[in-house]
Amino acid sequence: MEITYNLKPDSERRIEQFKPDGDVGFGKLRTDHMFLMDYRDGEWQDPRIVPYAPFEMAPGAMSLHYGQSIFEGAKAYMHDDGEIYTFRLDKNAERMNRSAEIVCIPYLDEQVQLDAINALIDVDRLWFPMQQGACMYIRPFIFATEDRLSVSPSNQYTFCVMISPSGAYYAAGVNNAIRLLISKKFHRAVSGGTGASKAAGNYAASLRAGKAAAEYGAAQVLYLDSTNTQIEEVGAMNHFHVLKDGTIIIPEFTDTILQSITSKSIMELSEILGCEIRQETVMLDQFIADIQSGEIVEAGGFGTAAVVSPVGSYIFEDNTVVTVGDGKVGKHIQRIYQVYTDIQNGKMAGPEGWVKKV
Ligand code: PLP
Ligand code: COI
Repeated sequence: MEITYNLKPDSERRIEQFKPDGDVGFGKLRTDHMFLMDYRDGEWQDPRIVPYAPFEMAPGAMSLHYGQSIFEGAKAYMHDDGEIYTFRLDKNAERMNRSAEIVCIPYLDEQVQLDAINALIDVDRLWFPMQQGACMYIRPFIFATEDRLSVSPSNQYTFCVMISPSGAYYAAGVNNAIRLLISKKFHRAVSGGTGASKAAGNYAASLRAGKAAAEYGAAQVLYLDSTNTQIEEVGAMNHFHVLKDGTIIIPEFTDTILQSITSKSIMELSEILGCEIRQETVMLDQFIADIQSGEIVEAGGFGTAAVVSPVGSYIFEDNTVVTVGDGKVGKHIQRIYQVYTDIQNGKMAGPEGWVKKV
């Protein structure tokens, strides 16, 4: 792919103001550039890196009205050799196309997506944060741009990549367990819907539930299936629990659950972690009974932004609280987090091809 570069002159770059050792937060900072590519006349065209700036878009752009918009979330890490490495980016590119299929967005070649991200990170590599545990969060997304008001797939789209120097998503990080609201009122997805995609509308639909969670002192909602009997996932991460023999259980992927790359990666690490990891249908009643009997000793969430987030307790809408173990971060989760982040940070060798130099 021939990328056109229209870079900011050095005098206009904001990198001078960037303090790589400061507390960067999650997703707040923008680098100097972004990658753009358009779909029109039946093909993806005009790949370019340009200054990070607002888009010009018709008020009738279809993504604004009917939500035809999808995104991905990935990370790159700086290793001790001073080089930047992306983590399993090929999996994000594949999933972008699965999301695209679900909301009728045209296929975008996976190598094109990878080349775009690598080129952008390379241009803005000085923006890499240096604080402990920080990384470059990568946000590729595609949205419909055709100016038309009938409800049907758009004929025009933009693919954009922006990157953001970032730290932990949940301020609590891995050292503090969060509380989740188990809701019987709010649902994230139904079978036959868009739950298995990273469609923007799934996240809009989670906001009201997120507000309710905050009212219960919870960080997020743990969603159940539409019959309120099975555990599905959290708004921005898959859910998991750990049995007292160390076995890790992740709810089976259905068409209402996003197939997390973190979950899949952890499953591939079962030998290194030295425990069995399996997916199964998780019934809510059994889950609660197993926490109360001590059969379940730890629980948490897996996700790119969230990494491995421990859950210390659950609250129901009737204010019943169920505490997992002693409510603190357990030894299994600490170990999963350590092994996983050591692989991402290049401190430990992971499976072939997981980390790739930019
Ligand atoms: N589930 C949902 C709904 C998400 O938004 C995310 C985040 O991307 C995940 C799970 C975790 O997926 P991954 O590990 O690929 O980031
Ligand atoms: C990610 O984990 O990368 C996500 O996309 C979650 C996001 C909604 C913050």
